[in-house]
Amino acid sequence: MSEMVIFGGNRLCGEVKVSGAKNAALPILFATILIPKDRVLLKNVPEIRDVQLSFSILRELGISVKKKQNLYEISTDLACFRPPSPSMVGEMRASTYLMGAMLGRFGRVELPMPGGCDFGTRPIDLHLLAFEKLGARCEREDDRITVSAERLRGSTIVFPIVSVGATVNAVLAAIAAEGETVIVNAARETHVSDLCRFLRACGAEISGIGTSVLRVCGGKKLHGCGYRIIDDVIEMATYLSAAFVTRGEIKVKGQFDPSMESIVQPLYEMGALIREEDDGVTLSAGGKRFGTEIRTAPSPGFPTDLHPLYTVLLCLTENGGSVEENIWQERFRYAVQLQKMGASLRRVGTKIYAAPSTLYGGNVVAVDLRAGAALIIAGLASCGKTVIHNTELIERGYESITDKLCALGADIEKRQ
Ligand code: EPZ
Repeated sequence: MSEMVIFGGNRLCGEVKVSGAKNAALPILFATILIPKDRVLLKNVPEIRDVQLSFSILRELGISVKKKQNLYEISTDLACFRPPSPSMVGEMRASTYLMGAMLGRFGRVELPMPGGCDFGTRPIDLHLLAFEKLGARCEREDDRITVSAERLRGSTIVFPIVSVGATVNAVLAAIAAEGETVIVNAARETHVSDLCRFLRACGAEISGIGTSVLRVCGGKKLHGCGYRIIDDVIEMATYLSAAFVTRGEIKVKGQFDPSMESIVQPLYEMGALIREEDDGVTLSAGGKRFGTEIRTAPSPGFPTDLHPLYTVLLCLTENGGSVEENIWQERFRYAVQLQKMGASLRRVGTKIYAAPSTLYGGNVVAVDLRAGAALIIAGLASCGKTVIHNTELIERGYESITDKLCALGADIEKRQ
């Protein structure tokens, strides 16, 4: 079990380059299963645990993955149907994307129920709804799921609530379905759009990208392509948060899309000075810091993945604020760890209230990926020493985070 040790209080300044988006890279990697006998060259793939795990799962299916300088070559010539190993699939929520990809390529998939961050139940009923609409049969037995279809036929899929994963799986399966599939109430997250753009580059016919109605004209053979994965806006916001809590000034370099408006708006309201340029975003926060009210929502709303981090920011404002969590009913487990560091937090139903707090170093545990990132931000803001345990969870989604923070002036180190 690895840990991170932080001596807080340093003012962070300088430039940091974000990596490729984890939540775009994962669906794109699994989408390569749909490409018969060709090569894909991917740039800007983040060097994180979940990507390495995805590579291992692809290799189990006979797909070759080779690193060539700063890109990955993926060859699907020898791809074959094989049930992926339960241990790997169980570790990562994104392995659910194997359902859409393997159903589309092989007409059949058998998986243990997928794992992922623990926010309470993580149902897959909407994924199965999409597959059944396209003509597949879904059977659950104990903790295994089998989805199969003689032929997939285009249909209209209407999601009752927005689901990133179910939208990804619906798109992947629709690629192989004869005729047009219309996906209504589709997720508009930037990483879903990136998957659709990647599939278009492979010859798929997809329209409505970035809107809540996607149209896929399926049944066409895909070919390989070269593609650059988008930069990670959640990682960007993480480094902007580090500048905010240390009253520093950081330029986060990368290409960010309009969805980041929902990410920077609360920072403006909290008193941050932000400069958006072509090659990145700069934040400084030397002045007064004001509380605000934040509500998480599907894109283009405020992303739930920044809920734990922005709660820390609110603790450091003059009048505090609140975050209303509307996506994950149990995304509050991080609060206990922050309270050990002096955060004054109170949960009422789906809302958490953060009162002005003085944060001090503590001995804490990362309970999930973004909760761990929030503890790092809190440690940077605190006076004293913070030890964060279980930091493998943080490395699932952040490439070289301790190196990047050290380069900005943080006193942080990783210990095995
Ligand atoms: C993706 O999870 C992300 N994971 C999560 O990020 C992110 O928090 C989430 O989207 C919301 O943006 C990846 O991209 C790998 P959902 P996903 O399906 O797809 C309910 C991170 O930090 N639901 O959009 O699992 C569900 O319970 C991770 O990188 C159903 O009811 O999320 C939730 O309340 C953590 N039935 C809501 O929909 C279903 O079949 C949104 O979930 C599926 C989902």
